[in-house]
Amino acid sequence: MPAVRNALIWDTGRDRAEYGDIVIKDGYISSVTAPKEAEGPILYDCKGRCLVLPGLVNAHTHVSMTLLRGLGEELPLMEWLQKKIFPIEDRLTAQNIRSGADLAVMEMIAAGVTCFADMYYFMDEVAKSVLESGMRAALCRGLPGDNADKLAENLALAEAYNGREGRITVQLGPHAIYTVPRPALERIVAAARDKNLGIHFHWLETKGELDSLRNEHKIEPADYLESTGLLGVKELILAHCVWHPTDQLSAVARDNVTFVHNPKSNMKLGSGYAPLKEFISSGVRVALGTDGAASNNRLDMWDETRFAALLHKGYNLDPTVAGAREILKMATVNGSYGTGFRDAGFIKAGRRADMVIVDMDNPRYVGCDPGNVPEFVVYAGSSRDVRATIVDGKILYKDGEFMTLDSEKILAAASRDRGSLTR
Ligand code: NI
Repeated sequence: MPAVRNALIWDTGRDRAEYGDIVIKDGYISSVTAPKEAEGPILYDCKGRCLVLPGLVNAHTHVSMTLLRGLGEELPLMEWLQKKIFPIEDRLTAQNIRSGADLAVMEMIAAGVTCFADMYYFMDEVAKSVLESGMRAALCRGLPGDNADKLAENLALAEAYNGREGRITVQLGPHAIYTVPRPALERIVAAARDKNLGIHFHWLETKGELDSLRNEHKIEPADYLESTGLLGVKELILAHCVWHPTDQLSAVARDNVTFVHNPKSNMKLGSGYAPLKEFISSGVRVALGTDGAASNNRLDMWDETRFAALLHKGYNLDPTVAGAREILKMATVNGSYGTGFRDAGFIKAGRRADMVIVDMDNPRYVGCDPGNVPEFVVYAGSSRDVRATIVDGKILYKDGEFMTLDSEKILAAASRDRGSLTR
């Protein structure tokens, strides 16, 4: 059986990293042995100089927005959306969605991301990009307004792709409270329950959304989530949650609910600081995401982990908040659970063989030892150190080469499509 050999292995289940071989069978880790003991083919030889971590999960993004990167910079959220983003989105074709998704998948694979949660449209194209690239994803069709045709499209996406190759889950994607009227949201929730699907929803990204719930809907956020039935769906992915009141967290500290923290997008759009310290202390599962490339502008989870860890220390005037281990838990296993892949997220027997191999043979890792791996990864590490990305035991990226993608073709198609959109 193939093995990743002689690696320094860390996941959130370990206090200290350990050297070992990771033996893989049928896409799963079959055992973790002492270093240099595994027999059979070598998938990657770490030679004692690479770290292996569980694959990173980007738990909220819009991959095809890589084609919109850099447009409408430094505008307020609603002006940015209405003047710059929505008019171009109205013109995006299925081909544009595919070339943008391929570009994002290429960027993420090279940075150790093994799974992402995506909300957009023409999602069949994103699904094809996922299947061909070898990545894992949680996909939904964004559902703005009250539109039965779009909901039917989302349900057809689920019919076609939910569970496909064990690498795709499909959720329903009501866009946000400012675009979806409550009766339409309730119909989407009913459909999710009927088909046993999860929901992926933008939740209280801006203060305006909290104000509209209170002033127009006359309801508190936790009561809205409860009374619409959202809390009862299979997996509820709530993106942003910047303005979720800290006295209403017990309602969302549930096994089926994941808050996705998107700190760089929230800072760039001036949306505010999510109260991460209180989310964590209340027992809410928090994952990390980049949001789309038009508001980040990177799809780099290393960048996101470092930024999240620093931001909340500064905001709380407390260096003990958002520790490196907690942040990596958010970026790995919490993202896996939130996106419906509960058998991923750890480097141990019985878990899916999704991992990132990181070069320690570089200046940033001098001083890294089995006792301080997460701190080195979060504070000193960089996506530039990624040597290989593995999903289901298959190498997608190795030593600068893409094994499943034609990177030149993807760059050419994306450049052409970007040019045609902004001409
Ligand atoms: Ni978003």
